[in-house]
Amino acid sequence: MNMHSNNVREEQNRMATEKGDAFFSVRDIHAWYGESYIVQGVSFDIAKGEVLSLLGRNGAGKTSTLRTLARLDNPALKSGEIWLNGEPLHSKRAFQAAKMGVQLVPEDRRIIGGLTVEENLVLAQVSGEKGWTLEKIYDHFPRLAERRKQDAVTMSGGEQQMLAVARALARDIKILFLDEPYEGLAPVIVHEIESIVRQIRDLGITTIIVEQNAVAALRLSDKAVIMDTGQIVFSGTAAEVLDNAELREEYLAI
Ligand SMILES: Nc1ncnc2c1ncn2[C@@H]1O[C@H](COP(=O)(O)OP(=O)(O)OP(=O)(O)O)[C@@H](O)[C@H]1O
Ligand SMILES: [Mg+2]
Repeated sequence: MNMHSNNVREEQNRMATEKGDAFFSVRDIHAWYGESYIVQGVSFDIAKGEVLSLLGRNGAGKTSTLRTLARLDNPALKSGEIWLNGEPLHSKRAFQAAKMGVQLVPEDRRIIGGLTVEENLVLAQVSGEKGWTLEKIYDHFPRLAERRKQDAVTMSGGEQQMLAVARALARDIKILFLDEPYEGLAPVIVHEIESIVRQIRDLGITTIIVEQNAVAALRLSDKAVIMDTGQIVFSGTAAEVLDNAELREEYLAI
């Protein structure tokens, strides 16, 4: 490729990005927990329907990045932009982001005890724009259908993870953030949750997945971003990470 077409390509990319053509666009975000500077200039784009793995060692800033993107108050976003489908998220609060279709399934899953599985799902529907119907949820998650009357916190870890994901889908979502969906689950249950994430991907739901189990996440992903100390150290395709032993060793310990 000659210099000229290179420049044209760059110019086109720049213009596309400025117009917010990417479905989800994160541009140079910086976020702080009080005095602690944690998210230090993170940028990436995701096309509609793509799955992105956000990876990195413990303490790299993955959860903090997801929290910033979901517009939670902590860490506080000090500069940078976040665009969803052409709408600015950076100027929104968490409840507004949720209304716009941003759903974070946090690591601890936040299942509400004392409520049945079904009550957890219904509550999700009343607190946001309705997404999947109960019927559709039970169709995709037969295990939850069987346990609809059970107190949700008495379910197994894997079942609770299913409920956490189902609860996100019960709202009208545009983008899903999964923080360590496989954490603390036995390999056989990881496979079950993996197949649910695969179904979500096949339904065309744009997703960011944070996982210590990088290989499992990469298998389902189009793109990958690796963070270290709050910054991006690699951005590319999931296949590139799977093929790059050095990168995996340095930042992922796999
Ligand atoms: N509420 C907080 N106040 C101050 N610092 C925090 C807070 N939460 C996290 N941090 C710090 O921010 C840094 C990034 O943490 P974060 O939880 O985002 O990492 P992570 O990549 O998700 O790690 P892990 O893989 O262990 O979940 C860490 O140094 C952590 O100690
Ligand atoms: Mg984390």
